[in-house]
Amino acid sequence: MASSNRAVTFQNPKDMRVDSLDFPKLQMPNGKKAPHGVILKIVATNICGSDLHIYRGSFPVPQGMVMGHEMTGEVIEVGPDVEFLSEGDLVSVPFNVACGRCRNCRARRTDVCETTNPDVSCGAYGFNLGDWTGGQAEYLFVPYADFQLLRFPDRDQAMAKIRDLALLSDILPTAFHGLMEAGAKPGSTVYIAGAGPVGRCGAAAARLLGASCIIVGDYSKDRLELVEKNGCETIDLSQDAALTDQIEAILGEPMVDCAVDYVGSEAHGIGHESGNMDPAYAINQVVDATRAGGATGVIGVYGPDPLAKSKAEQEGTYPIDFGQAWIKSPRISAGQAPIMHYNRELMMAILWDRMPYLSAMLNTKVISLDDAPGAYATFDTGVAEKFIIDPHGLIDA
Ligand SMILES: NC(=O)c1ccc[n+]([C@@H]2O[C@H](COP(=O)([O-])OP(=O)(O)OC[C@H]3O[C@@H](n4cnc5c(N)ncnc54)[C@H](O)[C@@H]3O)[C@@H](O)[C@H]2O)c1
Ligand SMILES: [Zn+2]
Ligand SMILES: [Zn+2]
Repeated sequence: MASSNRAVTFQNPKDMRVDSLDFPKLQMPNGKKAPHGVILKIVATNICGSDLHIYRGSFPVPQGMVMGHEMTGEVIEVGPDVEFLSEGDLVSVPFNVACGRCRNCRARRTDVCETTNPDVSCGAYGFNLGDWTGGQAEYLFVPYADFQLLRFPDRDQAMAKIRDLALLSDILPTAFHGLMEAGAKPGSTVYIAGAGPVGRCGAAAARLLGASCIIVGDYSKDRLELVEKNGCETIDLSQDAALTDQIEAILGEPMVDCAVDYVGSEAHGIGHESGNMDPAYAINQVVDATRAGGATGVIGVYGPDPLAKSKAEQEGTYPIDFGQAWIKSPRISAGQAPIMHYNRELMMAILWDRMPYLSAMLNTKVISLDDAPGAYATFDTGVAEKFIIDPHGLIDA
């Protein structure tokens, strides 16, 4: 049995490190015993665009905090109150920490669990959201394991598809949630803002849903190429033309049925404004791109940002063009995604080969724990890869 642990920790903006830690205990952040928890040996733990907010300093966290919220692992220790999991099970960990007992969890709104963070209704591993130790580590404690964990039916089958299944802890269900909030269905026309890993999962999920014209906008030619080669239309936002004109040039009409913001507060403008950053850009663009009576999902993270230009934005107040939006009678939905709402069906879609294009669109790269600090710096440059940390060297090349 292992007795030590190593993990990626935040030191300062742009300074991640691999540190030694104590082996995790079945214990809550407040020190209370957690007989409902398990210890996982981590098999895959991804670096996310949400981690970049921490890396850049726009989402402040304590020095030394363990990073990571996208974990897949093997159960190696089971608390005495756990009934449905056993040692050796391979599981996906939803990034939302959820008790399964509060009003919101009982309504499957695990994104706003009322008990796992004493400050706001929302707990997550590896953020400053309830003090949950992150999982870019060799080992991790997970509470409320029967409720939270998604067990893969067959270990060998799962290991053969682990690069895709590793996306179930966050970005694939998150991207799918954005489309559901935007009312996507077979035949819908869809605009996807952002070709980062989350936007690319959105494009893949739109294909799974049977959307008709899937248009992805970004500035990164390499990122756009991954979706273009896999059944999507693309818009290079560095071109100086209105988004609606660019949509019309592809679709024959200037607006889509559904649009999703997979960007967040570090958004850039279009064309000659592409060098400028404004937290309201992407939200206003997706509203602009959506037809009257359509719907919009906001998956990108928006919070108080100490690095923002204005005092209002530093406090999390953004200049949304609500007057323009209002007249379209829009539905706009935002927030963390309730992973558990979608992860089982998406797991089955992967296991039954319904998303054969997913790997090619994501372009996952498996790295060691020691390579993780360097991978943060590389991911921050906007490369067209999604990094999966493999702390024990268990994933085949
Ligand atoms: N709501 C949730 O539960 C949840 C979960 C996971 C990630 N997220 C958030 O989703 C967002 C995307 O994550 P990611 O890993 O893909 O990040 P990323 O930073 O790799 O990708 C963002 C992409 O957006 C592009 N972009 C910038 N401005 C744009 C604009 N105006 N229009 C279109 N594209 C623009 C960038 O060039 C970049 O390629 C982040 O804000 C992340 O925190 C939210
Ligand atoms: Zn994530
Ligand atoms: Zn709860």
